[in-house]
Amino acid sequence: MRILTTAALALAFTAPALAAPPAKPARLGLCAACHGEDGMARIPGAPNLAGQKLDYLREALRQYRDGRRDIPVMRAATGPLSDAELDQLAQWFSAQNPAAPHPPRAVQ
Ligand code: HEC
Repeated sequence: MRILTTAALALAFTAPALAAPPAKPARLGLCAACHGEDGMARIPGAPNLAGQKLDYLREALRQYRDGRRDIPVMRAATGPLSDAELDQLAQWFSAQNPAAPHPPRAVQ
């Protein structure tokens, strides 16, 4: 019993630190129409981002912003954003669960 209580207490104190989802980025609205707030794409041709590796998302966003990935829609979306804002978005999408139930998409 004592062990269980200790374990529960330990979880109660550590779980929020481990599982705390990132705060919703202020710039999420720039991305949601195409990628969904939950990282599940809403338009044909846009990739799902939910659960993607953080370092991959971070690097991809920098590549669009500086033109190494030359895709006009993504360049326009990332152009005005700072490194910190790109990081927040990368963290947000990386933390989304692709296996969670999602609202129906406009086009499958
Ligand atoms: C108008 C639609 C549109 C908007 C708005 C948009 N995207 Fe995209 N995004 C796309 C498309 C289309 C692609 C695929 C481009 C390609 O072929 O490289 C893409 C690709 C990406 C990728 C690369 C995924 C991969 O697997 O390589 C990331 C990351 C991404 N977008 C994040 C964002 C973020 C963050 C925002 C908001 C700042 C955003 N996008 C806004 C349409 C959009």
